[in-house]
Amino acid sequence: MSHAIQAVRGMNDLLPDQLTRWRRLESAARHALAAYGYREIRFPLVEKTELFARSIGDVTDIVEKEMYSFEDKSGERLTLRPEGTAGCVRAGIEHGLLHNQVQRLWYLGPMFRHERPQKGRYRQFHQIGVEAFGLAAPELDAELILLSARLWRALNLSGLTLEINSLGSPAARAAYREKLVTYFRAHVDRLDADSLRRLEKNPLRILDSKNPALAEVVSKAPNLQENLDEESRAHFARVLAVLDAQGVVYRINPRLVRGLDYYTRTVFEWTTDRLGSQSAVCAGGRYDGLVEHLGGRATPAAGFAFGLERLVELLELQNDPGESEPVDVYLLAHEAGTLPETLLLAEKLRDLSLRVETDVSLGSLKSQLKRADKSGAAVAAWLEAPAGRAVIKSLRSDAAQQTLEQGELMGALALTFSKKI
Ligand code: HAM
Repeated sequence: MSHAIQAVRGMNDLLPDQLTRWRRLESAARHALAAYGYREIRFPLVEKTELFARSIGDVTDIVEKEMYSFEDKSGERLTLRPEGTAGCVRAGIEHGLLHNQVQRLWYLGPMFRHERPQKGRYRQFHQIGVEAFGLAAPELDAELILLSARLWRALNLSGLTLEINSLGSPAARAAYREKLVTYFRAHVDRLDADSLRRLEKNPLRILDSKNPALAEVVSKAPNLQENLDEESRAHFARVLAVLDAQGVVYRINPRLVRGLDYYTRTVFEWTTDRLGSQSAVCAGGRYDGLVEHLGGRATPAAGFAFGLERLVELLELQNDPGESEPVDVYLLAHEAGTLPETLLLAEKLRDLSLRVETDVSLGSLKSQLKRADKSGAAVAAWLEAPAGRAVIKSLRSDAAQQTLEQGELMGALALTFSKKI
């Protein structure tokens, strides 16, 4: 026997029993998105490498270390998408969806990051992303957060914390950046290799360092909130006012800077303490400069994405039953002669929109009934013999087994499921 080939590390198979909770999450999300007028968009899993370098930023963990990049057979530099915002903006510009229009878009699909796999962190993971274009009002930022909060309610998810911050306007951020560089240069002996590298190109990311040795020097760094421009301050206040009015609880975290460079003003993250170190389940913010930066006309934009694996994990922890799609009828056959008729009957029942699973194994009645039970069907039924009688057996109640004429079987099943014949 040759050795079995295994899946790529950090890339998961999702098996039918697991997918019930994925389905529940996805249908709740679709429902919430529709309630806010968002429409689905689909774009490729592969884009030109340059798109991500230009949008996410050259000096970010994602672009520096985590992208699955390769040269294709024609020598083009391509990358498996590490996130969806860049591709969504690219598609929006390319198809003229963004100029002078309001677009509310969402997408669902796999993303790829070459991170060290651990619980809640995978190399292929899934996001639902939400992007709104053409709206500069702070109330939009707030509405995005309300959308996510509504989804948590629909899923009965509790214990999520909202962290929020404002990164200010590009100009205010540039001035703040100078202050930071001056401060960190004065403490250069206390920085680690990563931070030293970031010092000139992306000093804000030093604030996000997870290295405990840097905690003190970071905590004394100039505070972003105190360096905000007036307009950003007012914008942030209006975002918070809507959250306050809606009773959404938040924590202002002045060190929340996010790992992608395209954000301006509002950024936020929903975190949980139930998943260990991979605590962020949803994150996003405003990115008013990105559309223009990628070659479109200046367009305000904001959005967020949530990680499906982490949310499914939370559903599992609270024993959510998920959403299964059991068949209505398990149609078995314990005598070879009845097989053709059984299949024809199954087709007729499906014509009535009943969901029917057939058992063509010709195993013992007992083993077929066991499988019938496992299938989740409400009833099992079978033909006793060709042109003989038929039997209906309830699988979910103690109702007595019912023997009837074959000609009556369809009517009886249709009645059970209240379908018209
Ligand atoms: P992000 O913070 O990189 O943002 O990812 C969003 C979410 O995806 C995270 O909060 C987490 O739940 C999930 N996630 C990220 N990496 C992994 C991983 N390796 N394994 C499992 N789950 C993961 C973005 O991607 C932005 N595009 C969000 C956005 C949309 N901002 C504006 N619009």
